Amino acid sequence: MQPIDLLRELSDAFGVSGFEDEVREVIRAHVSPHVDSVTVDALGNLIAVRKGKDDRALMLDAHMDEVGFIVKWVDDKGYVRFAPLGGWDERIIGGHRVVLKTRDGRKRIGVIGSAPPHILSADERAKPIPMDKMFVDFGATSRQEASDLGVEIGDPFTIHYPFAEVADGYVTGKALDDRAGCAVLIETARRLADVKLPMTTAFCFEFGEELGLRGATTAAFHVDPVLALAVEGTIGADMPGIAEESQPTRLGRGPALSVADRSIVVSPKVVRLLEKLADEGGIPYQYKLPTYGSTDAGAIHLSRGGVLSGIVSVPCRFIHSPVSTLRLNDFENAIRLVTAFVRSAPNGLA
Ligand code: CO
Repeated sequence: MQPIDLLRELSDAFGVSGFEDEVREVIRAHVSPHVDSVTVDALGNLIAVRKGKDDRALMLDAHMDEVGFIVKWVDDKGYVRFAPLGGWDERIIGGHRVVLKTRDGRKRIGVIGSAPPHILSADERAKPIPMDKMFVDFGATSRQEASDLGVEIGDPFTIHYPFAEVADGYVTGKALDDRAGCAVLIETARRLADVKLPMTTAFCFEFGEELGLRGATTAAFHVDPVLALAVEGTIGADMPGIAEESQPTRLGRGPALSVADRSIVVSPKVVRLLEKLADEGGIPYQYKLPTYGSTDAGAIHLSRGGVLSGIVSVPCRFIHSPVSTLRLNDFENAIRLVTAFVRSAPNGLA
């Protein structure tokens, strides 16, 4: 399978935070052939392990969850009120199509609606509509009809745009944060399948990152690594109206190395190693400007007695909005860098 097709399958899979079953099964199918064991912990993290010469563990992390919403009320006309699961830009979610997963696994299509502009006052039109004034129309005309469609309080849904190629080497999908990271881990496992690994390597696909690094917290305890690398789809902001010094990453300049974000100051030892591996491999890279966003590395590095942790990211535009985009060359170069990291671990670091 080509990396772009893996990205497509992962991006299109459903996996709102706390409801990751579908995407987890996609990941399991792709990673299982390349590892010695696969386990799913009580909270839903998928942990795939390759034994290495050194029993101590290297933890690779990507989160499989995506931002979404949860049904909080169905009114007697069948309209759904909702709350966010993860951080959305409220100003831009209205007017989009959503996919809801019912309790028995069916998919329902709905539309996030709000009062038509024609009937709003000039004042109301000038302001963004708050999320608690929006609703989802699933086509039901009563609470009972909504229930017959399978729509109930507690059901997860998200804005769904199918994966597509925008231009050559430039793709769009709904959940590239962090399905890009999941795809990097799977490709890394695949490319190293016939290589004897220096360290036991745990490929960890975490639940609930968007709710506060939840999966990484428990997975890191379980794996007990001495070294870790989180792989993210991060904030690409090279776009009109944003000054260069405020663009956390730029597309097409290679994978981004984090030096510090809001959840961690990365040990310079880890950053220097990643720079060296990139230089040796002829892999372009950039720095993710400090200190935007949080990553699973924030949770992992504070696990137990502390874990030396780094972050490599694929720059993605428009994350935490209804769509996201990335350049395949950044994605490919992230795979090459993470692969080099695994091959060289622990490289004097642990
Ligand atoms: Co993310």
